[in-house]
Order: sequence, then structure tokens, then C-alpha cells
Amino acid sequence: NTGKLWGGRFAGGPSPELEALSRSTHFDWRLTPYDLAGSRAHANALHRAGLLTDADHAELLRGLASLDERFASGELHPDPSDEDVHGALERLLLEEVGPDVGGRLRAGRSRNDQIATLFKVFLRDHAATVAALLLDLVDVLAQHARTHLGAVMPGRTHLQHAQPVLLSHHLMAHAWPLLRDVGRLADWDARVASDSPYGSGALAGQSLGLDPTGVAAELGFAGSTANSIDGTAARDFVAEFAFVCAQVGVDVSRLAEEVIFWSTREVGFVELHDSWSTGSSIMPQKKNPDVAELARGKAGRLIGNLTGLLGTLKALPLAYNRDLQEDKEPVFDSVDTLEVLLPAFTGMVETLRFDTDRMAALAPQGFSLATDIAEWLVREGVPFRVAHETAGACVRACEARGIELADLSDTELSDISPALTPEVREVLTVEGSVASRDGRGGTAPRRVEEQLEELNATAAAA
Ligand code: ARG
Repeated sequence: NTGKLWGGRFAGGPSPELEALSRSTHFDWRLTPYDLAGSRAHANALHRAGLLTDADHAELLRGLASLDERFASGELHPDPSDEDVHGALERLLLEEVGPDVGGRLRAGRSRNDQIATLFKVFLRDHAATVAALLLDLVDVLAQHARTHLGAVMPGRTHLQHAQPVLLSHHLMAHAWPLLRDVGRLADWDARVASDSPYGSGALAGQSLGLDPTGVAAELGFAGSTANSIDGTAARDFVAEFAFVCAQVGVDVSRLAEEVIFWSTREVGFVELHDSWSTGSSIMPQKKNPDVAELARGKAGRLIGNLTGLLGTLKALPLAYNRDLQEDKEPVFDSVDTLEVLLPAFTGMVETLRFDTDRMAALAPQGFSLATDIAEWLVREGVPFRVAHETAGACVRACEARGIELADLSDTELSDISPALTPEVREVLTVEGSVASRDGRGGTAPRRVEEQLEELNATAAAA
């Protein structure tokens, strides 16, 4: 069987059960274009080292190009007898260019340095895709922030009304973590791009005088690995990538949860667009936030992929062990999950309709202006401890009467404390409250506008 990359020392073939366990083509076949790119770079290195004649080199490149085309047009398939993508592609190359020429390509490389390199290239491509999808979501949040500049909402801590904030400020609080995820992908990429494992061989390096930096450059890397054992055994680049995917899932899930909450009848802050919500098979009135719920659910799956992978890597001795074949499916799943989830999630967020009147009506409720009273007193020279007590007494008085802070009369205020002159009313409006929080990063309208410029500039530079 030409699909086996080994066999010389074996008297009989592998048992069918072993083959079934060992086979990975059902998931690693998608690496074909990356494997072929690596083979092209390797053929060039063999040629430069004088190990391939011009004619053999040209014939190998022709064969590899033909496999590339057949893969692109969907005609290339692994055989059940192929162990993995590398074996399958060698078999197909031999069929294409014959065993004499095709059999020369494997010199000076192992599947161990091959897979480590091409998995990096594959993940770098998908890191770029995921980053672009994240920037789309950031952009949609920034657009909502721009459209709703000036709209207020109840800011919450512990899910309780805390202080009024601008809706734009809150939406951008979801955008910044996503931008940091884009930054994480860029940091990850710079680290991965610094070393190509080709040239590491099985673990000890290669003896054929090949130039790994040339291969590295051809595959888009800045250099090649300093340690061939590390080059074949390390998978921290996979785990780190899976972490960023999990973090993206977690960040998206926090916005998803808010959308679900905001769209309840009790809250009523947003309405989902028909095209981005689903109905019920029995309850005719239902309009469900399934996109947000799936986003929330997928976060669990992305976290599972990361922990599964770390479990595989834990305590694994150096160098290559076949356990490492288990590094692919979880990360392929993370990539596929995000590449399906993010466009849908962005579409759902883009078409949200905010009920800014309702948000504004609820913003001052729940005594959310109590801190404003305390801070107004501080500006009047009252120590904060006293001011906090005084504002607390205002809340107590309101609770007893079932009114809000702004409903207290001048006499009631001065009865609570002589320091509470009628001027305190300036901050007893939502507008006054948000305008007063005008330090950098605060919710005052001019600061939020400034923040929006900063967010857009950071996104444009990402
Ligand atoms: N398919 C393997 C993987 O994904 C690469 C092959 C290395 N196998 C080996 N027996 N050295 O990790």
C-alpha cells in the first residue's frame, strides 16, 4: 500500500481496528492546501541543497500544483487506507509523478515537523478571519454608540440599579474587550510567526544541509525554530489560540446575556429584528432570542475545547507523541464555531432596536442618584463619610414614602441635613448626573464622544 509512510520493518499490515483508530483523514484533510504549500517549500529547499535535479524539482512542483487544483475543484479525496493527510498526499503525489520522483520529497523532513509547521500556517489564516469578524462586531457596536449618543439607561452592579450611564458608554464597554481579543490574536500571531518548525525533522533536526530559513520565509515565517525537539513537541501555540477563542466566546456571551435580559417583557430595552429571532412551535406569540442564546451556549463549548486540549498536553513527555494528533479537532471546532457564530451574532446586534424612552424612564429609578447627592455634598465641603450617611438618609426617607429622590421637597431635604440646599437638585436629574461624571473614561456625554473616537481609532489601527 503506497498510502503507508512506513512498513519496511513490518512483516504484516496493521489490523483494521488499529487503522480505524489511527486514521485522521476525516478531520485533517482540510489541511491539504497547507500541507501542499509546505511540500512546495520543502521541494525548493531540497533543490537548493542539490538533492533534486532541475527536472525532478520541476516535476514535483507540477505534481503538487496539480494536487492543489484537484483539491480546490473537490476532486481529490483520501482513501480509507490512508493514515493521515500527509500519507494520503504522498500516495496521490506518487500516482501523479511516479514513485521515482515522488519518493524523493520526503527526504529531510518528518510528519512531526511537517504537521507542527502547517498547523501554525492554518491557524494564522483563521486568526486573521476571526479578527476581521470581531472587528465587524466592534464596528456595529460603535455604530449603535454613535446613533444613540445622549441616550441614558440604568447602569447596574449586582444587576441592581446603580448609577445612570449613557447607552453608548455601555455598548462600548462590550466593544473594548473584543478589541483586546483582536490584540490577543495579533500578539499570538507575532509569536507564532517567529518560528517555523520545518527542519526539526522527527525531533533531532536534519542532516541533509537543508536551509530551514528559506522554507520559513516561503511559508510566511520570520525564522525557524531554535530547538528541533521544541519544534516538534510544542503545542502551546494551539492552546493559546484555543484560549483566545474561548475568551472571545466568553466576551460575546456577556453581551448575549444582556440582549436576552434586555429583550424580556419586564425589561423591554430592546426589540430583536424578525430576521434575527425565532418563533415557537406551540406558542404563537413567541419571539425568542435564539442567536444570543446560542452565543451564550457556544461559549461553554469553546471553553471545553481549551480544557480538553490542555488535558491532552499535560505531562506529555518530549518530543512527539501520537497524543498530539488530538490537538486538531478541538481547535478546528473552535474555529468553525466562531466563524459561524460571529457573523450571525453581529447581524443580530446590528438590527437591535433600542427603546431609549423606556431606558430613560427607568434610569433615575431605584435611587440611582444617591451617589450624586453624596458627591454634590463633597463638592460643598462635607466629608464623604457624612455625605454618604446623609444621602443614605434621603433614600430611607424616600423608601418610607414610596417616592424617588427628586420628589423630596426643599423642607424634607433641609430637615435631613442643612447642607442639602435646593441647589442639590442640579444633580438630581439623570442628565445632571451623567454630565457630572466627566473624568476620563466617565459617562459624561463629552467623554463618551471622546471615547467613541478613541474606540474607532483603535479599531482602525487593529
Ligand atoms: N497525523 C499526525 C498528527 O497529526 C502526524 C503524524 C506523526 N505521526 C507519527 N507517527 N510520528 O500529529
